[in-house]
Amino acid sequence: TPTTMSIRLKVNGIEHQLMVDPRTSLLDALRDRLHLTGSKKGCDQGQCGACTVLIDGRRTTSCLTLAVMQEGHEITTIEGLGTPTNLHPLQRAFVKHDGFQCGFCTPGQICSAVGMLEEIRAGAPSHVTADLTAQVVASPMEFRERMSGNICRCGAYSNIQEAIAEVAGVKP
Ligand code: FES
Ligand code: FES
Repeated sequence: TPTTMSIRLKVNGIEHQLMVDPRTSLLDALRDRLHLTGSKKGCDQGQCGACTVLIDGRRTTSCLTLAVMQEGHEITTIEGLGTPTNLHPLQRAFVKHDGFQCGFCTPGQICSAVGMLEEIRAGAPSHVTADLTAQVVASPMEFRERMSGNICRCGAYSNIQEAIAEVAGVKP
C-alpha cells in the first residue's frame, strides 16, 4: 500500500485533517474525502474546467494540483460561495438566465467566473490579449476569452455569458 501523509486543508472556512496518498489530486480530496461533490471531474487533465475552484481567490483546476500542495491556502468550492437561501450573485444570475442545462459544468463555470471578474478588476491581462499593456476593460468579448477554459457540452454559452454580463454590469 502507498504511504499516506497527514495534511490540513482549509475548505470553505473549515479546517480538515486528512490522511492522503501524496498523489491525491485536490479534486479527489474534495470529492472523495470531504464529500464536496459540487466540483466535477470531467476530464481529470486540465482540459474542461469542470473542477475549477478558488484557491486564495484565484481560479484553479483542482484536478491538476495535489491536495498536499494546498496546505495553508484558502480553498473555496461552489458549496462555499453561497447557500440555497443566500445565493452568490453569480449563482442567482445563472438561475435567472438559464445558464445551465445538465448542470455538470456549472459549478466550475461559476467558480471560474468569480475568479475571472476579480482578475479583470485587478487589471490582469488575459493570455489572448494581443496588447498586454492595454487597459483591461470588462466586455463580453473579454469575458468569452477568459472563460474559454470552461467547456459546456450542452452549449449553454450564450446564457452563461448573459449571466456574467449582468453581474459585471455590462450589456451582453
Ligand atoms: Fe479538471 Fe477537466 S476535470 S479540467
Ligand atoms: Fe451541461 Fe454545461 S450545462 S455541460
